[in-house]
Order: sequence, then C-alpha cells, then structure tokens
Amino acid sequence: MAEKILDEIQGVEDVKVDVFPSSSELLEKLHEKWNTVKAKPYPAMYSSSFGGIILDPAMMVIPIDDHMVHRGHGVFDTAIIFNACLYELDEHLERFLRSASKARITSPFPKSILRSILIQLTAASNCKKGTVRYWLSAGPGDFLLSPAGCPKSAFYAVVIEDDFHQCKEGVKVITSTIPMKSPLFATMKNVNYLPNVLAKMEAEDKGAESSIWVDEEGYIAEGPNVNVAFITHEKELVLPAFDKILSGCTALRLLELAPELVKQGRLKSVKVENVKADEAEGSAEMMYVGSILPLLPIVMWDEKPIGDGKVGELTMALSDLLWEDMIAGPEAKRIEIPYV
Ligand SMILES: Cc1ncc(COP(=O)(O)O)c(C=O)c1O
Repeated sequence: MAEKILDEIQGVEDVKVDVFPSSSELLEKLHEKWNTVKAKPYPAMYSSSFGGIILDPAMMVIPIDDHMVHRGHGVFDTAIIFNACLYELDEHLERFLRSASKARITSPFPKSILRSILIQLTAASNCKKGTVRYWLSAGPGDFLLSPAGCPKSAFYAVVIEDDFHQCKEGVKVITSTIPMKSPLFATMKNVNYLPNVLAKMEAEDKGAESSIWVDEEGYIAEGPNVNVAFITHEKELVLPAFDKILSGCTALRLLELAPELVKQGRLKSVKVENVKADEAEGSAEMMYVGSILPLLPIVMWDEKPIGDGKVGELTMALSDLLWEDMIAGPEAKRIEIPYV
C-alpha cells in the first residue's frame, strides 16, 4: 500500500539512478545545471576543508560526514555587505565565537584570521550588496554522536547577492505556538533552527510576515530571526532583555543610536526591560529588529492593530538612524572591502 502511494506521488514505477564513475562527469552535469541559471546567487564560498575560496558554484559543497550536517553541531552568523563595506563585522564575529564556545567548538583560526578570510572572500565575490554567512562546525570525521572522531573543526562561508531596501511598509505578526528554545540554545546562534523555521511557516500559513515567541511567564522573547522592540504611549523605547534570547547585534546598535531621539525630545527614554505580551499589545508602535532588515514596522499582532494600525513615526525615525549608520556610520562599524 505504502509503495503504491509512493508510486502515485512520484508518478513513476521506478527510477534508474545515475552513477557517476568520475568527478569530471559529475561536474559536467552540475555545470549544465548552473549554466541554465540566469544570475548565480552565490558568487563565492570559502571552505577550510578545501583551504581556499571557491568561485565555481558546482563546487560549493560541504562534507556529508561533517558533525554540523548530521548532528547539528555547528554555529553560524551573518554580516551585511552594503555600500562596499561589511557592516558590524566585528560585533557579529564576537557573537559567532561566543556561540562556538557555548557549542564547545574550537575555531580552526583565531578571530583575526576569520575576519581576514571573510573580507578577502567578499572582495573575491565582487558582491556590492548582500550578505556573507559563515559557519563553524565541529568538522568532518565520522557519523557518531560524539565529535571525538572529528579531528579538525571547519569554517565555511558564502556570499549571497541580495537587494535589500529600507522597510517602509508595516507587517502583520502572530504569536507563535511552536515551543521556544531554552535559554542555553536561544542565546547561542547554533544551526538547529527547526523551531524557528516552523514558527516562520506557521506565520506564513496565517498570512502574517513572521511570529513572536512569548515565554511561559507571558513575557515577550523574540521573533524566529529577529528581535522585537516597542514604543509605549509614554514614548519609551523598550527592548526585552537578552538573557534568554539571542543578543541581536542590530538591537544592541539600536540601543546605542536611539538616545539621539531622546536628545531631540522625540523619545522619552530607551530601556531594556522584560515586557508582558498583554502590555506590549497596547503599545503605540512595534517593530522587528535584525541585521537583514534592519528595522521592520509591525502594524498588526494576532489580528489586532498596534497603535493606530499605521507605521509609526518614531519607528521610522529609528529605522532612519540604523539605515544612516549602515550608509555612513563610524568607520569601525563599516569595514571597507578591498575589491580588486
Ligand atoms: C533568533 C534570532 N533572534 C534575533 C536575531 C537578530 O540578530 P541580529 O540583529 O544580529 O541579526 C537573529 C538573527 O540572527 C536570530 O536568529
């Protein structure tokens, strides 16, 4: 019965599986596939397994016996490529190494070398707008649970072309019913993002942009790949504390930049404080904060409008601060890419 159903789904009786006797035949097939793609989305990858930068997308692969692949024993992070710079690269790298330490992964290189590889990779990619995503893994070795048979940790990175713009439209969100991660796993950016994926899919199923986790005590946590921030009717900017969620580089930067609006008298204060979901629902304004946005106004939560249901003025003022910082912020935040 099961076989019959499978046949019906696949619409075939059986398949003849290709055997590639040599790598050149396999490569030929992969090149055929990539040659039909109009624009290659991944201009460059680095792999410590290969010991260099790969420009051929057909070779952008990682070993199947890598502990990150079959056991989820890996951590990752991202940095934005914008205006010929890598934005907040050092902040992301520091969090990356904190995540690795919590996952008991020792980097094959010190931070300065990881940084240099990412800069050289981005330069080689010639990408002017996009992201560089990178992973530290316990490394290839065997298929066991213990990483004892994985002698050397691995570092992988890939550049992805992306055309992002400042978000000016408000979105709908829902409260996630997918259980949130425990603090140990939520505070390290490890590759086990299944709860995050399911939370995003749940939102999409309900016609929302994304979701928000609320913890067992009713406090706001975060979104599946973003932090959350609120503006109260008293004009206070409030971000939930980072002890049980990912400490977002963008949220931390927002906390540094927002006092400018306090100086201008537009905001009353800037606070990091846990907020109950029922209080937050009555906020004047609400937003997602994360490096690929960097700020996204939220206008409706669980089908109820936030404030007047329109994109908030202070939300956009905060968004302008972050956007300006990406374009022309301090040099230490924008690492110039030495394109050749
Ligand atoms: C679970 C989670 N929370 C928050 C964030 C926002 O962090 P950042 O601003 O560093 O992108 C991310 C993104 O990486 C995330 O995955």
